[in-house]
Amino acid sequence: MSQRTALVTGASTGIGKEIARGLLAEGFHVVVACRDEGRGRAALADLGGGDRAELELVDLASQAAIRDFARRILDRHAALHVLVNNAGIWPQTREVGPDGIELTWATNVMAYHLLTALLLDRLKASAPARVVNVASTFAGKLDLDDVQFERRKFRGAAVYAQSKQADRMLTWELAGRLAGTGVTANAVHPGLVRSELGRGLTGLKRSLLGATYRVIGKTTKQGADTAVWLASSPEVEGVNGEFWTSRRKVRCRFRDEAHQRRLAELCDAMVR
Ligand SMILES: NC(=O)c1ccc[n+]([C@@H]2O[C@H](COP(=O)([O-])OP(=O)(O)OC[C@H]3O[C@@H](n4cnc5c(N)ncnc54)[C@H](OP(=O)(O)O)[C@@H]3O)[C@@H](O)[C@H]2O)c1
Repeated sequence: MSQRTALVTGASTGIGKEIARGLLAEGFHVVVACRDEGRGRAALADLGGGDRAELELVDLASQAAIRDFARRILDRHAALHVLVNNAGIWPQTREVGPDGIELTWATNVMAYHLLTALLLDRLKASAPARVVNVASTFAGKLDLDDVQFERRKFRGAAVYAQSKQADRMLTWELAGRLAGTGVTANAVHPGLVRSELGRGLTGLKRSLLGATYRVIGKTTKQGADTAVWLASSPEVEGVNGEFWTSRRKVRCRFRDEAHQRRLAELCDAMVR
């Protein structure tokens, strides 16, 4: 089989870097998408994929940067077989990104939505192809009338959980539209993973997370396993619209077609 190409966002560290490593081990050419050049170069050196790994820079909080990035990917890669939307943040204070959108929603939700939309035709033309969205079981509190926490008190956990609920629901919406195209979309919970995700936490919250990580936290390699499997294994060829953890299907309580459609329409309307 000729070379297959995969793109992993947020691959400078954490779960994303290990997903990139796993896909390199599966023989893919891997686009390692990072926002910071220094961290990206360090990740690339650590991954050691030779000419099968390439660094591309993108700030996923910026829709202009996402568009520019997608254009470069389409110019450079005639085929794209795997897209792993992984980059995510868990901020503790409310910040607004370059498009005037709250940063968690911009990074964890709008970037998944927009990047997938911009690359979808290339994925379809490269079918069989797969989209894997890194979501979480830590999810809920989605309020379509206040996704940017303008009316609700900004609590990091709730803001993050809302974004991860949206990631799952956008996956189901996408999977419905992809039926019959040869492209699949699945969502994955990586487990509780010792990564840099809690970097914004301070004080007691930081100590508690550190202690939890030490007791039950998975390594980033373990956290990447199901995503790599979903992106590459013949066992899940053609499987579409499911939620996975530890290579097992799990029920998702956020399945509601009308709600999913409203969310996708809201995201479309937030594309600048
Ligand atoms: N860790 C867990 O227990 C856990 C559990 C469930 C789900 N998840 C999900 O797993 C995914 C990966 O998280 P992680 O735990 O590996 O966290 P992490 O170690 O903090 O890694 C996050 C990655 O996203 C990148 N990123 C953040 N904002 C970006 C932006 N604006 N543009 C481009 N890249 C950006 C980071 O880049 P920099 O290096 O430049 O910061 C980094 O590469 C997230 O979607 C998260 O929600 C994690």
